[in-house]
Amino acid sequence: MHQLLSIADLKRDEIAGLIDLANGYMEGSLGTRPSSFILATLFFEPSTRTRLGFEAATYRLGGQTLSLMETKQTEAMSSAESPSDTVRVLQEYADVLCIRHHDENFSKTAASSCSIPIINAGNGTDEHPSQALADLLTIQRTIGRLDDLQVAIVGDLKHSRAAHSLVLALANFEGIHLRLISPAALKLPSRYSERFRTNGSNIEETTAMNLEDVDIVYMAGFAPYTPVGTFDDTARAPYRMDATKASGLKRECSILCPLPRIDEISPEVDGTPHAKYFLQSKFALYMRMAIVLSLLSR
Ligand code: CP
Repeated sequence: MHQLLSIADLKRDEIAGLIDLANGYMEGSLGTRPSSFILATLFFEPSTRTRLGFEAATYRLGGQTLSLMETKQTEAMSSAESPSDTVRVLQEYADVLCIRHHDENFSKTAASSCSIPIINAGNGTDEHPSQALADLLTIQRTIGRLDDLQVAIVGDLKHSRAAHSLVLALANFEGIHLRLISPAALKLPSRYSERFRTNGSNIEETTAMNLEDVDIVYMAGFAPYTPVGTFDDTARAPYRMDATKASGLKRECSILCPLPRIDEISPEVDGTPHAKYFLQSKFALYMRMAIVLSLLSR
């Protein structure tokens, strides 16, 4: 793996390799640590899990981080400096660059002229590949397999970058029955499901919260950037997970959520055996260690 720009760039065996690495770190069976390195995080949008997750992963691997967090600086850079120029400078300071930017093309443009690996930590409403890898690790660890799954993804599927990358990622596996549950105005754009439709898996789009037969419920939520009018409480209410809906799930069903949670999952669900979303953010740390190691070993 040379960059992590889109999850669609990874083949099944590469995903499996990253999951093995992450499991190795989690179980303490893997001593592999790179020699001294620096990871720079360049975030033009807020983040808790992704930025701190990559920074924690770096420290656990024995590296060090550079972080640009000052809003005034990032706003000024966002408008005044081209991605290529920014990255041209930073590639001399770090060994890996982790970028979140509201412009879908920023990371790709930056990567085209960059000599060090770039991690796309969220490019607008397009993709979030490291989140998808953490999601797959969580599915593998909680359900025990990545083939032959019934998966429901719920929420604003038009704008959720986590949902987009997860759908692209699941296209690598067999026997996936994907149920996309969203308001009609917030359906998944077809470009994310095309690959899925051509590999013989089954995909269904609905507005109804039919969850009784699924192995995974992925609560993508309604992102703050969902347009006003499709985002009001009445529109969101049917797509929330609460104790009543959780009680109708299969016994072994896992509820996942990329977090942050706004109101898509009621706190009363947290105590049920289905709630795996905080475990998912813990697993993400080990997946991010695996991603960084893999990029440094290229
Ligand atoms: N899941 C996720 O991307 O969270 P942050 O926005 O906190 O990084």
